[in-house]
Amino acid sequence: MAEKSFKYVIIGGGVSAGYAAREFGKQGVKPGELAIISKEAVAPYERPALSKAYLFPEGSFVHHENLFDVGTARLPGFHVCVGSGGERLLPEWYKEKGIELILSTEIVKADLAAKTLVSAAGEIFKYHILIIATGSAVIRLTDFGVQGADAKNIFYLREIDDADKLVEVIKGKKNGKVVIVGGGYIGLELSAALRINNLDVTMVYPEPWCMPRLFTAGIAAFYEGYYANKGVKIIKGTVAVGFNADSNGEVKEVKLKDGRVLEADIVVVGVGGRPLVTLFKGQVEEEKGGIKTDAFFKTSVSDVYAVGDVATFPMKLYNDIRRVEHVDHARKSAEQAVKVGSFRVFVVSSSSNPSELNLSRSISVNGAFISLFTIPLEISTRRVFREIFAAIKSNEEGKTIDVYDYLPFFYSRSFDLSWQFYGDNVGDAVLFGDNDPASPNPKFGSYWIKDGKVVGAFLEGGSPDENKAIAKVARVQPPAVNLDLLTKEGLSFACKI
Ligand code: FDA
Ligand code: NAD
Repeated sequence: MAEKSFKYVIIGGGVSAGYAAREFGKQGVKPGELAIISKEAVAPYERPALSKAYLFPEGSFVHHENLFDVGTARLPGFHVCVGSGGERLLPEWYKEKGIELILSTEIVKADLAAKTLVSAAGEIFKYHILIIATGSAVIRLTDFGVQGADAKNIFYLREIDDADKLVEVIKGKKNGKVVIVGGGYIGLELSAALRINNLDVTMVYPEPWCMPRLFTAGIAAFYEGYYANKGVKIIKGTVAVGFNADSNGEVKEVKLKDGRVLEADIVVVGVGGRPLVTLFKGQVEEEKGGIKTDAFFKTSVSDVYAVGDVATFPMKLYNDIRRVEHVDHARKSAEQAVKVGSFRVFVVSSSSNPSELNLSRSISVNGAFISLFTIPLEISTRRVFREIFAAIKSNEEGKTIDVYDYLPFFYSRSFDLSWQFYGDNVGDAVLFGDNDPASPNPKFGSYWIKDGKVVGAFLEGGSPDENKAIAKVARVQPPAVNLDLLTKEGLSFACKI
């Protein structure tokens, strides 16, 4: 089988791969140096569109700030980097830059010591620097052996192929009955999208309220009321334990643990994701289910970086380490890793021991992360000196790389609602504003207060400036002792920070 070799390889072709490519472009990657290997058939795109405008009926119009939420989104409309207000990277962009997009190619074996990847078709890829950007896979009900969970018309949503299957079934089952299993992000966004398609939607989830990872009971009460007013039925405190299918193998009924049986023509399951790290098991340090990195997304293996959903990284603001499964972090971590990976200093030694070629370590100088490579003198060509000069020059120009100092940012949009959350949802929570689901213009929020400081802020229906204000609160962590006063002040507290 043919073997291909690149200076940089990104494994995964999702959000972080796309943003990494843009950063490589900015850093001046040379033609032929970078390859993106993806099992998807299309160039990197903004995954959030799949659970929103991608599923809306043709010709529908949902007004939101981001273009790809208006009308029915289709590629090439939402290739990265439109989601953060940047220019779209179309397949031609990669071609112009000499970045190889190796699509429809699943890597099935990774040997980090030998710096080799092998695809399902047996192709071999060698790299000097690897960026792991494999994202997450959905958790399936068949993983827990739920009876009948392999019936036809039971869907999951992660990639564009999954979304295409959903679009087909929506067209084919007009006015049909849908059961949504799960009350998290997918559950809430998909039940809205399918309701907009005029389907009869019932949500089922085990917790006492939706999105318990983030929402308080007070926040959830608004969304549950709003969804009910839109005709979405909600069944809480139980789970799907089995499915009955007809003679074609198509799902017809969902059996719940509490004994109820629901009719269903379509089932959509959103019961969580898990980071795709199995290829690297035993080869790289893991933590909290992900690949452990430093604040520059370097893993425990030299020349290997991990970004996006798979990275467990130091969260400077909270002095702990976390994994984040959201798009803002996917974008920012990718940019950070590329800045670091293409900023290196070589230390030339007189050693002639070839094994020293692999001896690399990292130090932080003035907040900049620098890889120190020990290279035997006899191969220290002009190129090495050129790179030393370039790195020193970047330093002189003040181009140091700060440690990743991430402020968690999550958001969602459904129906004509739109919320944003910044910071940490720990401690006591206060609710403020108009959270009546029947209100013509609901606008409400929450603050989370820990150790006398506001550490997290949530806002539904905020303007861009108001969203900026709550982000600032979460970053600055202003003191708040009187919670009643904070409730009364509400959004104006954030706006004056
Ligand atoms: P991502 O999943 O984007 O990309 C991983 C890529 O790696 C895929 O192309 C995959 O095929 C490929 N891959 C995996 N294994 C491979 C292998 N062995 N060989 C080759 N290729 C391989 N977040 C948010 O903040 N707001 C939002 O509104 C949404 N909405 C949303 C909707 C839907 C439907 C999903 C599934 C997710 C979201 N998210 C979100 C989450 C967000 O999209 C997610 O956190 C980022 O896409 C993560 O980016 P990554 O690059 O890490 O993975
Ligand atoms: P999630 O973790 O947000 O929610 C999973 C939900 O399923 C939870 O309510 C959970 O308790 C429930 N659940 C668990 N087991 C169940 C069972 N057996 N039966 C019924 N319900 C069960 O995960 P998700 O909604 O599947 O999302 C998957 C991934 O996609 C996540 O990484 C998420 O961050 C990402 N995503 C993010 C957004 C966004 O940020 N707006 C949108 C869509 C997807």
